[in-house]
Amino acid sequence: MDNTSWTVVNPDGRYRVIVTKSLPGSRWLDILTAANCRIEVCRKKSVLDIASIRAAMGDRCDAAIGQLTEPWGQPLFDALNAAGGTAYSNYAVGYNNVDLEAATRAGIPVGNTPGVLTETTAEMAVALTFAVARRIGEAERFMRAGRYDGWLPDLFLGHLMEGKTLGIIGAGRIGAAYARMMVQGHGVSVIYYDLHANPGLENFIARYSQFRISQTLPPVTCRRADTLETLLEASDLVSIHTVLDDSTHHLIDARKLACMQPDAILINTSRGPVIDEAALAEHCRRHPDFGAGLDVFEHEPAMVPGLAELENIVVVPHIASATRWTREGMAILAASNIAGLLRGDPLWEASDILPFLGDNPPRAIPSIVNAKELRRMPEYKKE
Ligand code: DGY
Repeated sequence: MDNTSWTVVNPDGRYRVIVTKSLPGSRWLDILTAANCRIEVCRKKSVLDIASIRAAMGDRCDAAIGQLTEPWGQPLFDALNAAGGTAYSNYAVGYNNVDLEAATRAGIPVGNTPGVLTETTAEMAVALTFAVARRIGEAERFMRAGRYDGWLPDLFLGHLMEGKTLGIIGAGRIGAAYARMMVQGHGVSVIYYDLHANPGLENFIARYSQFRISQTLPPVTCRRADTLETLLEASDLVSIHTVLDDSTHHLIDARKLACMQPDAILINTSRGPVIDEAALAEHCRRHPDFGAGLDVFEHEPAMVPGLAELENIVVVPHIASATRWTREGMAILAASNIAGLLRGDPLWEASDILPFLGDNPPRAIPSIVNAKELRRMPEYKKE
């Protein structure tokens, strides 16, 4: 382990916790300190490889907080287990970088950070929507290049979103929050594709539609699509909010793109590999009126060749959850997962996670994604 890249907080703490990146805020450090942890934080900005994380664990490590950029699979969970570790938390709500079966086999609970990314990520999806619809990136590059000679009737004509049809792929917390923002802000109607119905979203939009009618505004509707193709054909704008797993890898490929309207907009703030990025680049090249807004990339941090040159794509570097409140909240939840696990606290059963950010946080573990699987293992006695 390269000691020069690591900062130690509360050196006399009983439990040794490694944290593979510096996290925003300081409250997360207070939580771990109060739980009697010695916290070792890696200051390097580059992604740590498996060998470096293993070296950091050494032969005694009680817990780890890792990043979505690191492959937390069998080699790391076995190493954590061998070092006496009993807790892991991803600093993310998504956990496609974690092999849950390997963690469960090693008897290690895996925490994540739901509930504090919802509005922040949905707001970024809204920002990308309008950046694409109103050609903000293109127009900004034009201005900065000193090419603006004066107002013209047809300069950077874009799309009006008011009253359009929005397709949501994955109507969970973030997808539903984005849908509500677009419905309330821009009077769109919603079609969604999800394994589960979302009656809460449907009722919200039905009630909001009644309100609009009372204001002499046109009604809005919400329906669940039977097939993804139905949604793609019907939508002016499609936003992806699904998890990444085997069933969603390349969910949007050349064939699905061909189902979309030639001037539709596609937004992705979920995970890059949900879209076949090479197929998207080709589609955008052939359909200049089609637009895409991407926060995530198939081979992150790289983009497929040619993507960066396309004017009809807006790209940002995986910052959908990047507000101070959210990133500090994620740190608090990750630390609370570890502190709660080390103390043997009960699992928090409610879906509202915000009490953990308040002045009197519950004595509980906020969110463990393999809790059910671990309970089935006879040797797991934490709860
Ligand atoms: C997550 O937490 O999964 C997000 O992708 C981070 O931005």
